[in-house]
Amino acid sequence: MDFPFYPSNDFGPLMKGMVIGGVGILHVFLAQFAIGGGILLCVFQWLAMTGRSKLAREFVDGYFRWVVLISFVLGALTGVSIWLTTIQISPRTIGLMVQEFHWLWATEWTFFCLEVASGYAFYRYGKVLPDRTRLGLRMSYSIASWMSLFWINGILSWQLTPAGWLEHRTVWSGFFNPSFWPSLLFRTITALAEAGLFACLIINLATNWTREQKQTMLHRAFYFLAPMALMPLVGAWYFAVVPDDSRRWVMGESVAMTMFMTLGVGASMLIGAYAVVMLVNRRNFINAMTSLVLIVLAVGATAGGEFVREGMRKPYTVRNVLYSNSITEADAAEMRCNGGAARDPYPLKNEASIPNEQLRLGAKVYRMQCSICHTEEGANGLLGLVRTWTPSQVRLNIAQLQRTKPFMPPFAGTAAELEALVQWLAWREAGNPTDWEVSAEPEVLKTIQGHLDEVGTVSGIALMQQNEAAARIRHQDERNQKGSR
Ligand code: HEC
Repeated sequence: MDFPFYPSNDFGPLMKGMVIGGVGILHVFLAQFAIGGGILLCVFQWLAMTGRSKLAREFVDGYFRWVVLISFVLGALTGVSIWLTTIQISPRTIGLMVQEFHWLWATEWTFFCLEVASGYAFYRYGKVLPDRTRLGLRMSYSIASWMSLFWINGILSWQLTPAGWLEHRTVWSGFFNPSFWPSLLFRTITALAEAGLFACLIINLATNWTREQKQTMLHRAFYFLAPMALMPLVGAWYFAVVPDDSRRWVMGESVAMTMFMTLGVGASMLIGAYAVVMLVNRRNFINAMTSLVLIVLAVGATAGGEFVREGMRKPYTVRNVLYSNSITEADAAEMRCNGGAARDPYPLKNEASIPNEQLRLGAKVYRMQCSICHTEEGANGLLGLVRTWTPSQVRLNIAQLQRTKPFMPPFAGTAAELEALVQWLAWREAGNPTDWEVSAEPEVLKTIQGHLDEVGTVSGIALMQQNEAAARIRHQDERNQKGSR
């Protein structure tokens, strides 16, 4: 099969993966708040209607609904931005997601339309409608927004744990994958907690309420943080169903991942601790400043959580199907024989300033295989990573990329393409001189071919598992020998 090349965009010093990640984190935070906020408005509307709280009516008609509206609009805009960035960065992955799940996307968009319609109807006519209709609209908004999370969640969690789908290839075996329920639960708990925290901020800003009145309302809002008590359990469930290697990236094998995991867990624990303090004693108060600090912590926790979730999938965008650079294992094997980047029909941005054909090929190899996770000199910059290595070290470590770091995909190309990449890196490191000699030593290419053949195109994860199995057998043999002696 011919490899599907697409034109892709370049974000300079910003790593492509981080561009998606950044937009994603913003979107997740806003969209989750819009869901939790909708549910909170329902509950408070109900409190008002049943006469349980007179203040609740003031609250639901006050600023909070504007905050929900704004986050809903921004959530929708950032949602569209995710499509816009992913098609510039990872079109093949997005294509696969659309192809496999188009009816589910359509269902999700239907719920999104219902969400927009009921939200709009409420803001346009809410004031003149009777209470029951108002509650009906709020419920329709909340259910629709939670349902859109439900559908998206299935498709996103499939990317990490598609094992059942790989076997059965049915839509539902992909959708209800092992990480579906824990991640849906986790996101729902987060949505409620975010809503509770924003409610605290808004309650504090009310100018016509006494401290006692605020206190009563703050405690009502804090009930939305109570489900956080389940987070450790749901988190443990999630980590129990994700693949072994993914867990290992988080548990110390990848420094950045471990750091973000710690950030996420730490920030959540601080928020949780504060919730406990508030919920055990009705006399405790939380002021606007503290609410704001907790909201910032919640942003941190979301960022940490999303970074970890995305990063855990490495080296895949869809586990065991597509590598992060949208190349399959079969593509990689085929490209070792027939070449990969050399077939890329799309021109380079700065083609004219690159002095020879080999360097141009090298730049294409970088663009096709590495640029999703590396930049040239910015975030995770490749030039910096290889700066202290000798050329033969660079050749070895790139030829055996999946052994260098098991969360990188194997090199997908010929020895000549690899040498082109090495030359391009050296040329960039030298400051893009106008003259550069072509490297064509048969000995060098032979050495690279040897390195490539040694590990083949199996994933780093498979390689890691093979090594560990071999080590276990060796260990067992040693013990048997000792025993027989
Ligand atoms: C799935 C994402 C991903 C892809 C694709 C990827 N890398 Fe990496 N690479 C990483 C990460 C993450 C690191 C770790 C950086 C660190 O340790 O600070 C890394 C580290 C490296 C290192 C340093 C290794 C070390 O031991 O210090 C080199 C060299 C490197 N990559 C080269 C490449 C090249 C060349 C390509 C393309 C052929 C590539 N990478 C593709 C994610 C990726």
